[in-house]
Amino acid sequence: MQRPGGAAVADLPFRVKRDATHHGVTQLTNDPEDAVDRTSIEPTRSATAAPPSASDGSRMRGALLPGDRTVELRDFEVPHPGHRQVVLRMRASSICGSDIRAIYREHLGKGPEAYQGVIAGHEPAGEVVEVGPDCRRLKVGDRVAVYHISGCGTCDECRRGYMIGCDDASRAAYGWQRDGGHADFMLADEVTCLPLPDELSFVDGALVACSFGTAYEALARMSVSGADRLLVTGLGPVGLAAAMLGRGLGVRQILGTDATPERRDIAVRLGLVDETFGPEDGLDGVRAATDGHGTEVSIDCSGAAPARRMALEATRDWGRCGFVGEGGTVDFPVSPLLIHKQITLYGSWVTSLWRMEELLDRLARWDLHPEDTVTDRFDLEHAGDAYRVADEGRSGKVCIVFDG
Ligand SMILES: NC(=O)c1ccc[n+]([C@@H]2O[C@H](COP(=O)([O-])OP(=O)(O)OC[C@H]3O[C@@H](n4cnc5c(N)ncnc54)[C@H](O)[C@@H]3O)[C@@H](O)[C@H]2O)c1
Ligand SMILES: [Zn+2]
Ligand SMILES: [Zn+2]
Repeated sequence: MQRPGGAAVADLPFRVKRDATHHGVTQLTNDPEDAVDRTSIEPTRSATAAPPSASDGSRMRGALLPGDRTVELRDFEVPHPGHRQVVLRMRASSICGSDIRAIYREHLGKGPEAYQGVIAGHEPAGEVVEVGPDCRRLKVGDRVAVYHISGCGTCDECRRGYMIGCDDASRAAYGWQRDGGHADFMLADEVTCLPLPDELSFVDGALVACSFGTAYEALARMSVSGADRLLVTGLGPVGLAAAMLGRGLGVRQILGTDATPERRDIAVRLGLVDETFGPEDGLDGVRAATDGHGTEVSIDCSGAAPARRMALEATRDWGRCGFVGEGGTVDFPVSPLLIHKQITLYGSWVTSLWRMEELLDRLARWDLHPEDTVTDRFDLEHAGDAYRVADEGRSGKVCIVFDG
């Protein structure tokens, strides 16, 4: 089977089959003989965008996260686009570990992670249905993924494309301080909308908006290549993204650790890692798998102190180690683990507009699909179930999808 512009599905390093089940939920199976044809699930482009119902006072559903592990569906007016804004009909809106950690369980986030009671969802992808005045690039019918932070546009960080780092009072992240993607429609600044290549699905695009963008930024900054072996600590959605993109960047040996056996199994079933270990046997396992050296590059995608420390311990002398898992602390002896090992330690926060655009282009050319890490899909009515599954921490990526 051949997709436009892509390699035969049979050539992919991993293949998954999706079985539609109740509530729009889809479970990942691993039948290598029955790879999926995405075009049958999700048209890559609708030739005639449905007429926008965005300006006639019509209503839409949106999901909020009041805390205490609850999801509330409410009725809203469909937004109107202002100057250089567009309205998107949502097609996919995935759940990030940060939504669970900083909002869903309780409102822990501070500063840029402070949740302001808006429609949740900071991994949105959709189709432009209405274009506001003075838009320069987008038109009705365009398919886009949304960089999830809208900055002031004039500070140093914004000019570099890292709106994530903007500290102007006007900065607002979708799903945190301004309405996000868990709704039928979403208002977005044109500058934050990145066109989706035809080869990528809306679900692919949603996953790039935070988790894949985050993993790619860190790996790219560490100059990961085929010369490296890679260790990923924490095989949640961000860890799966790091492993898949490590493959894309040419890494031949990828090792992973997770505290949860189900998550290790998913990573193996998807063919994203060569070997996995639990936290206790991780260091010995990595050393045994690398002739005692450790990996040239390690990336922590757990945010857990023991995993961060292990990532440093398992990094080869002169290697690079990146921290992307958020929150908490870490305690380690600096001289033996960092200085004497000549290690370069990277912190990396989300990504930039330009790097996200680069990633979309590369995914299309590499024929890699973030969507393959999605194990569970729900429609918006069942957003509560989606969050419950994501909170359990035993699945792959969880995504809210919309009929197109
Ligand atoms: N740096 C950024 O810009 C950025 C962006 C998005 C998400 N994040 C953060 O990245 C982290 C991962 O996101 P996610 O969606 O994959 O979250 P997740 O919580 O689903 O995944 C974390 C995984 O780490 C595992 N883990 C816990 N302790 C471990 C240990 N000692 N050893 C190995 N694994 C361990 C857990 O079992 C879990 O599978 C979260 O902290 C999230 O907030 C950071
Ligand atoms: Zn996120
Ligand atoms: Zn700014």
